[in-house]
Amino acid sequence: MLKGKRILLIVCGGIAAFKCLDLIRRLRERGAAVRCILTEGGSQFVTPLSLAALSEDKVYSDIFSLTDESEMGHINLSREADLLVVAPATADMLAKMAMGIAGDLATTALLATDKPVMTVPAMNVRMWEHAATQANIATLDGRGVLRVGPVEGDMACGEYGEGRMADVPEILTAVEDFFAAGSQTGSHARPLAGQRALVTSGPTREPIDPVRFIANHSSGKQGHAIAGALARLGAETTLVTGPVSLPDPPGLSVVHIETAREMLAACKSALPVDVAVCAAAVADWRVKKSAAQKMKKNGGKPLPLELTENPDILRTLSQASGNRRPKLVVGFAAETENVVENAKKKRLRKGCDWLLANDVSPAQGTFGGDSNTLHLVDASGVEAWPTMSKTAAAERLARAVADHFAASLDDGPGAAADS
Ligand code: CTP
Repeated sequence: MLKGKRILLIVCGGIAAFKCLDLIRRLRERGAAVRCILTEGGSQFVTPLSLAALSEDKVYSDIFSLTDESEMGHINLSREADLLVVAPATADMLAKMAMGIAGDLATTALLATDKPVMTVPAMNVRMWEHAATQANIATLDGRGVLRVGPVEGDMACGEYGEGRMADVPEILTAVEDFFAAGSQTGSHARPLAGQRALVTSGPTREPIDPVRFIANHSSGKQGHAIAGALARLGAETTLVTGPVSLPDPPGLSVVHIETAREMLAACKSALPVDVAVCAAAVADWRVKKSAAQKMKKNGGKPLPLELTENPDILRTLSQASGNRRPKLVVGFAAETENVVENAKKKRLRKGCDWLLANDVSPAQGTFGGDSNTLHLVDASGVEAWPTMSKTAAAERLARAVADHFAASLDDGPGAAADS
């Protein structure tokens, strides 16, 4: 699968650097050639000898090494590769990449390269959540730098949260997906250029009175990641989102709404689009008549709330007529049992083309977390995806959308709508 691909692996200074040893083995097993740059920090965690033995190549560390420069030169080092992978991408390295600092061999190679770059962030949860890191990530995401993770879990420092480096299988999937989508030509490859995309994300809030509402725990992580991934592949993307604590992804147009009816109206005004992905956790119900004033307690008496069903945005888009029907409509389904069977039925009921069924049974431990175990259900069958971070799932979906449109172009006009 990776036969003949050349990967420049930049190993930075983080406790997760040990995962790079296995990563090199697995990349090479798949036919890739791996060459390593080891930063000074990285050398505190893995030795040049281990990297050299596993990659069966010289390991580069010193920008001022006469021998290295005469043999290779740091510009060539970064340009000879098909893909640069930075792992573990520390907060320090991400900040330097965002700022364009070139103070050592690794950062110079990253600034000098004209090849795609994939980061695999790893750091303490507070460092990851810090506004500075999030701003740097937003800058890098906006520049089209690929990213795998980080994922949620226990950390070496004893804390728990988002910041763990993605595991090797996830990184391999992201690397394979990248090459499978034919993006070897560089981060400038934008297979969805000229296409319009619409993504719904987050929860909706249905008012009970001016200060209370019905909502759910949706974080918006998956929907936001999908919108970002589609935009990075070149789609002109509109993200319609309920209230979430995530920053607006860069490079796309974001419409903030509160209720399901507002979400539907915003989606309708974004039409026509080529692809619509409904990832929002829309409240199925709203209070039939929300109170104009704050409701008062009533001496311990129960409070009756009459609920009425909200519009189904996915179904409305799927059943739209003419060119208002997106060529490809993708829905989500959270299921705890009979995942695939329920998803097949839901796909037909909603009328969408693809349905991503999310196994949220407690055994998977994925509900509300940073990872997803998805099945892609379409008219032709079911594709089981391995457990992966929501970012990686978003990349995979965006690439599948790009492949779908590329294939339907090959098949002639109208093919996309038949899927
Ligand atoms: N959805 C939507 N509008 C709604 C409800 C759901 O657009 N009012 C979309 C979601 O964004 C998701 C898909 O429909 O893509 C599946 O939602 P889900 O809640 O699993 O489906 P329901 O129709 O509510 O079915 P169930 O009876 O299983 O709850």
